[in-house]
Amino acid sequence: MQIKLTTPQTEKPKNGITQVRLIQKGIERVVTENGVTSLEVVSGKIEKITPRTLRTLVRSIIQSAKKNKCGSIRIELAYADFSKCHDYSEEWFWSTVAENMLLADYTYTTYKSSKTTDAPLSVSIVSSDINAQKGIDRGILVGSYANMCRDIANTPGSDMTPRHLGEHAKKILKGTKATVNVLDVTAIKKLKMGGLLGVGQGATETPRFIVIEYWGLGKPKKAGVATSKENPIVFVGKGVTFDTGGLQVKPGMAMYEMHMDMSGGASVIAALGAIAKLGLKKNVIGLIPAAENAIGEKAMRPGDVLTMMSGTTVDVLHTDAEGRLILADALHYARRYNPKLVVDVATLTGAALVAVGLHAHVIMTRDRKLEDTFRNLGEESGDYTFPLPLWNEYKQYIKGVHGDIANIPAGDSKYAGSINGGMFLSHFTKKMKWVHIDMAPRMTAHGSDKLAKGATGEPTRLLVKIAETM
Ligand code: BES
Ligand code: MN
Ligand code: ZN
Repeated sequence: MQIKLTTPQTEKPKNGITQVRLIQKGIERVVTENGVTSLEVVSGKIEKITPRTLRTLVRSIIQSAKKNKCGSIRIELAYADFSKCHDYSEEWFWSTVAENMLLADYTYTTYKSSKTTDAPLSVSIVSSDINAQKGIDRGILVGSYANMCRDIANTPGSDMTPRHLGEHAKKILKGTKATVNVLDVTAIKKLKMGGLLGVGQGATETPRFIVIEYWGLGKPKKAGVATSKENPIVFVGKGVTFDTGGLQVKPGMAMYEMHMDMSGGASVIAALGAIAKLGLKKNVIGLIPAAENAIGEKAMRPGDVLTMMSGTTVDVLHTDAEGRLILADALHYARRYNPKLVVDVATLTGAALVAVGLHAHVIMTRDRKLEDTFRNLGEESGDYTFPLPLWNEYKQYIKGVHGDIANIPAGDSKYAGSINGGMFLSHFTKKMKWVHIDMAPRMTAHGSDKLAKGATGEPTRLLVKIAETM
């Protein structure tokens, strides 16, 4: 897709360009009158469009332009008309428009034997807004990295092993100021990452630990000072390249789509790409523990006790609660950076879908201020978040049997599976500012998202926004 901006004065009407017209009511259609072809899209009253409905409106414009094979569209917009969006800046408006155009344009065609021959959609935006170009540039950048996240997440498990994930991280960060270091199993053993090793031990391919460092502000001078603004934000992303459930194998269709169990890792890689490309004056680290949760004679067993990097011993009461085991080691590893904030992103629990359905990232933190900030940044970025509690009342459910703690409640429980996951992780984040994002509800697109089937690319936009503002 190509997006270019012109001002009303310089723009001359051209043939072959479909004019997008936003109509208050009626039906979506393409009409040609007096030689001018228009695509009519129902938007309701412009002054009623909110940040949320702006995103879906932009996406439907792109989707119907493609459906109607418009080829080239022209759209006139002015930030001033969108009064319900004025909590945010003009630059935000244009960034949101461009970003959602790219997200709506995306399709995953790598494995199609016949590629479409349609020329890429060309979008001509007409506006005299001062900050339009700046916003569009940011939107194109963030949108294209979110789409790279979708490419990685959509790749089948056979072609996206821990090794491949490391290679993709290198490819995406290549040519930027960020460095990528992929630790192999020997290095992981040296670090004593018992969680990552335990989850990965059943697979043919060994685990990896991907470390991305971006020192946009330069490395901290005063080591050990927790409040220094040079201390980095650390993003940790779950990188389970395929989740069979392990020996407690997932039944039937529950295993389908588990090649996307590295979506958190993919979004951390993509966000670091965007952050480095934007050249943010921030220090940001990305950590991705990558392993395949496979079945085999070497696979970890229920009842095994793992010794984690932190020294904590963990009862594996369920081999399918593997995400928390690899994240625990990565969260502990994060301590060496003296982070000012740690955020983990993981397709951690099916229970998150039971709690909020398909339309929110579940967030958990003990810090009420951070909880509010993350809800606000969710609205601003489009990666919507909603909180669940992490209270001490829930601590009893991660009590160990023979080890210090257990990866699921001993005796099992059908309640609050997402909180149990969050509580488990909180054991490894003591004294750090930390937010857990259970992105399972947003792993795959829902029809009303107006996105192609498969990965959503979320919460890449949110992570970029966090890096920009915190
Ligand atoms: N990767 C899954 C969670 C998941 C399920 C993500 C569906 C996206 C869609 C995770 O590793 C898992 O299997 N969790 C278990 C935890 C249980 C054993 C406590 C679950 O949700 O059933
Ligand atoms: Mn699992
Ligand atoms: Zn999993």
